[in-house]
Amino acid sequence: MTLNIVSIIVGYLLGSISFSYLAGRLLKGIDIRNHGSGNAGATNTLRVLGKGPAVVVLLLDAVKGAAAVGIGYAISGGDPLIQVLCGLAAIAGHNWPVYFGFRGGKGIATTIGAMASLAFVPTLIAGIIAIVVIALTKYVSLGSLLLTAVLPFLLYFTGKPMEMFWFSILLALFAFVRHRSNIVRLVQGNENKLGTKKA
Ligand code: G3P
Repeated sequence: MTLNIVSIIVGYLLGSISFSYLAGRLLKGIDIRNHGSGNAGATNTLRVLGKGPAVVVLLLDAVKGAAAVGIGYAISGGDPLIQVLCGLAAIAGHNWPVYFGFRGGKGIATTIGAMASLAFVPTLIAGIIAIVVIALTKYVSLGSLLLTAVLPFLLYFTGKPMEMFWFSILLALFAFVRHRSNIVRLVQGNENKLGTKKA
């Protein structure tokens, strides 16, 4: 029990490592949260720092989600509940990082990493849907929201454990709450499009 709680705390601390913030500081000496959309995530890293840093940030943010789930697996001996709690903790850390004044990102890359390690095929399908939507509309936020919205259905219909289904519902809620300003801009028709520098 104690070890399980420690693994959830470790998941949060791991998720709190904001790679986009670190990239901004290391590459340009800036706080990425004061540039572009103000979000500490891969999309804003693309906007502010360019493609290379964005790809690295996307991968590292995803890896920390997968690693948190992996830690939960190793500590609990494969208990799905502890795995999902560790994943949730990493996403919470990404969104509200303890090291950076609780001002983080929107958790999508970390969600992809955590979910991919729990249920690879449903996450892959959700990822493909998101990529198609982003390619067609140039709205990363719309693709991100759809990714989290379709995941619960995909998990349910592929017969994954209910812990994962409820986890994905929570993740979708997290994503919609964190994308509030994007949703308003999408409705108003002035959301930032992929490839535009200014937010
Ligand atoms: O994952 C974040 C993305 O969906 C939106 O990012 O910077 O355009 O708010 P941003």
